[in-house]
Amino acid sequence: MQIRKAVFPVGGLGTRFLPATKALPKEMLPIVDKPLIQYAVEEARAAGIEEFIFVTGRGKTAIEDHFDHSYELEDLLSSRDKDQALAQIRDSVPPAGQVAYTRQQEPLGLGHAVWCARNLIGDEPFAVLLADDLILGEDPCLRQMVEAAGETGGNVVAVMDVPREHTGRYGVLDVGADDGRLAEVRGLVEKPDPAEAPSTLSVIGRYILVPEVFDYLSQMERGAGGEIQLTDAMAKLIGDHPFYGLRFTGTRFDCGDKLGFLKATVAFGLARDDLQEGLGAFLEDLVAGR
Ligand code: UTP
Repeated sequence: MQIRKAVFPVGGLGTRFLPATKALPKEMLPIVDKPLIQYAVEEARAAGIEEFIFVTGRGKTAIEDHFDHSYELEDLLSSRDKDQALAQIRDSVPPAGQVAYTRQQEPLGLGHAVWCARNLIGDEPFAVLLADDLILGEDPCLRQMVEAAGETGGNVVAVMDVPREHTGRYGVLDVGADDGRLAEVRGLVEKPDPAEAPSTLSVIGRYILVPEVFDYLSQMERGAGGEIQLTDAMAKLIGDHPFYGLRFTGTRFDCGDKLGFLKATVAFGLARDDLQEGLGAFLEDLVAGR
């Protein structure tokens, strides 16, 4: 199965990260030296994605500028022989004609944001990546999912076990057959109370979906929190299409949350050759109270 298109919903308000996100889109917050959205785009590219569809909102123009050329800056870097920096910023611009932007005029929920991309997706399976879920690992998460979807067909969501007291933050799976890597999805519940959660296997922000999901999203049913939930539309696909949760390899950080963001900054900093030593020594001193 070939997955050519990916949707990046970036229309959320990022209220958990105010005041930083008042004028700056949450997805432009940097981890070390790269904005969250660039990590997501690079992951999609590594998975073979050819078309990048951003569902934006008001105040998100910095994202469009980030994925465009900045001739003044490129000229300046070139004249100062800063070749590495120049190559880096040129590399981050996707090929012309392979990026599309559409606006979610009102932030009515993730399901609504994905629905806004329906005409750009058309009638083929597609990926959705939430940039605030950042994954550190050797093998890009979406690449693992594309491979899994090649085996199963239909829908594949990235899943991980969470502490039972956290199920209220996630879409949670009712699990059928399970081989330890791929778990068949028998049911899906958005943000269940820990006592009622069918399992602790929870969906994170990576999805491969069949286009039929748009039929259900277009019903505009409000779910948890009064929002149009992607989970509710996905749940309606169960039974009609193969549906699996993939336990991916890698460590996921919720960068829409302050603690998750700080953890990601440390983990990604420590994973960098140029920062590992200095950051590691600083952290050791800090913990030792030196
Ligand atoms: P979140 O649940 O993190 O919501 O959205 P949020 O508004 O971005 O942040 P908080 O909770 O207020 O701090 C998950 C993903 O869905 C997108 C967000 O941009 C994020 O990538 N989203 C959410 C939309 O694109 N539109 C929406 O209406 C809601």
